[in-house]
Amino acid sequence: MEVVIVDDDEQIGEIAASIVIATVGRKPDAVIGLATGSSPLSTYRRLIGAVAAGEVSFEGARAVTLDEYVGLKATHPESYRNVIRREFVDQIDLRPGRLETPDPHSGDVAQACADYDSRLGTLGVDVQLLGIGTDGHVAFNEPGSSLASRTRIKTLTEQTRVDNARFFDSLDDVPRHVITQGLGTISEARHLVLVASGAGKAAPIAAAVEGPLTASCPATIIQMHPHVTVIVDEAAAADLSRADYYRETYAHKPAWQPL
Ligand code: GLP
Repeated sequence: MEVVIVDDDEQIGEIAASIVIATVGRKPDAVIGLATGSSPLSTYRRLIGAVAAGEVSFEGARAVTLDEYVGLKATHPESYRNVIRREFVDQIDLRPGRLETPDPHSGDVAQACADYDSRLGTLGVDVQLLGIGTDGHVAFNEPGSSLASRTRIKTLTEQTRVDNARFFDSLDDVPRHVITQGLGTISEARHLVLVASGAGKAAPIAAAVEGPLTASCPATIIQMHPHVTVIVDEAAAADLSRADYYRETYAHKPAWQPL
């Protein structure tokens, strides 16, 4: 696992975007795993700028997402499909139809989960962007999620609903149920890129990077993955006991080592 500590969120976006750009540069038909939440927004801003500047094209690429609320109308602005389109996908040159997201509107949601999971297996995700919840969740895998879980329905914790209430008129409007890629599903992506900023993420980041592997902190699953990049600002890095080592490692990263 590579841990990169930078000054601010803009630098997080710069480095995460450079990984995505390198992936698409190497493989124009790459499958990019997108995450919602505020953490990846600086990455998306960078990528939108890079497309506009002709530095990268997503014309041959595909995009998939991690999770989706159940119970919102398809037109609801906070449905994750609409969020990711508004904040990123509609501002780049990804072809229509090349964004695939979990379908919460199917009559058989369990089947829709299984279908999405198997579709991800068929596609093969090349790089997956991840945020982290204050309780250590990734996507919507709440504490206690099986480390081998597949795409399925989950019930949100009170904490996550409170955290996400800022996007809705009231806490009561935040759905209780979601579809989320499982931790086992996410682990099949070839490269995981976890981004986090701010003091509120210091504890979950320390647990994910240095804590014991446990379903009580779902983000610890990244410790089992062969290719992970964690990019954090100083505030989110505050509880890392090996921060100096990570800084030293990154400062002396050999030019031949891949992103
Ligand atoms: C939501 C999303 C997660 C995201 C988390 C953190 O619960 N399902 O994918 O990582 O929020 O969000 P933020 O980046 O806004 O702190």
